Amino acid sequence: MATIAILGYGTVGSGVLEVLRRNAASIERRAGQPVTVKYICDIRDFSSHPDAALFVNNIDVILSDPEVTAVVETIGGLKPAYFYVKSALESGRHVVTSNKELVATHGAELLAIARRRGVCFLFEASVGGGTPIITPMHQCMAANVISEIAGIVNGTTNFMLTKMARENMDFGAALKLAQSLGYAETIDPSADVDGIDAQRKISILASLAFGRHFFPQNVPTRGIRDVSVKDIALAARQGAAVRLIAWARRGDDGSVALAVEPMLIPRENQLAGVEDVFNAVLVKGDMLGDVVFYGKGAGKLPTASAVVADVIDALKNGVKIHDSLFWQESAPIEGLYGDST
Ligand code: HSE
Repeated sequence: MATIAILGYGTVGSGVLEVLRRNAASIERRAGQPVTVKYICDIRDFSSHPDAALFVNNIDVILSDPEVTAVVETIGGLKPAYFYVKSALESGRHVVTSNKELVATHGAELLAIARRRGVCFLFEASVGGGTPIITPMHQCMAANVISEIAGIVNGTTNFMLTKMARENMDFGAALKLAQSLGYAETIDPSADVDGIDAQRKISILASLAFGRHFFPQNVPTRGIRDVSVKDIALAARQGAAVRLIAWARRGDDGSVALAVEPMLIPRENQLAGVEDVFNAVLVKGDMLGDVVFYGKGAGKLPTASAVVADVIDALKNGVKIHDSLFWQESAPIEGLYGDST
């Protein structure tokens, strides 16, 4: 039996517990053993929760229990997630995370620690929610040299742009709707609307595709705050849709440019037809040509399903995964990737 711990009991963390329970039999078959949650670490009070006995508020309880072989991190942000994940890896546990800020900022270092300790650090859910992108890129496309990645990686802004186009809703109304449905944060929606979430995700994909760490703060980024209904209507008259595109391209000389920006996408391009919270990422490989990954980019169970798939992978395949899931550490560069490389 595999014993795991979940760090953070928010939307994704609670989804992970639900997926593990609802699909316990098929997960056991695929993992080759039952997968049981022994601890959930969260500082909030869950004493009246039906699973109250699982809750702890101190990571040391988990790290000092030799039965725990894998840790799922769904807290989000860097503090305390970075320290927790680093400690779990250093103590010889597999770690699976949905935390894009953590991977985009510290991915190279955490992958190197995992390698050194002979465990996995996996993060399929950090890009595309439940849509498989990272695993197909590093496994199925392993024989390709990748030259370009371009796509819609933020479900919230894509939902808003869809509403603005279909229902003539202005930015403020579309944001309110996205907040009322739980897509955008109510207090500070800037991670989505200002493109920061997409910036982190393209940094992860570019690091994986091009083999060195690209830091999010160096990616020129513009969100959708300035996109008006009028812009969208004008684009439609020209046969195009407005989409928030995150892209990364490698030139023949090996230089890499990255950016996040609203773009006019001609109607016949597949990305123009991607609506609501769906994500789609086009990857160009020199042998395969273009491939598009498409699916639900956000949501509790889709994202949790990607987390649980990584847990199964870690339990079954262990550190072998890291042969292809790896990129070199590098220092942040001065200026912006798009300008200086
Ligand atoms: N806020 C993110 C989005 C959630 O809207 O795409 C999934 O990463």
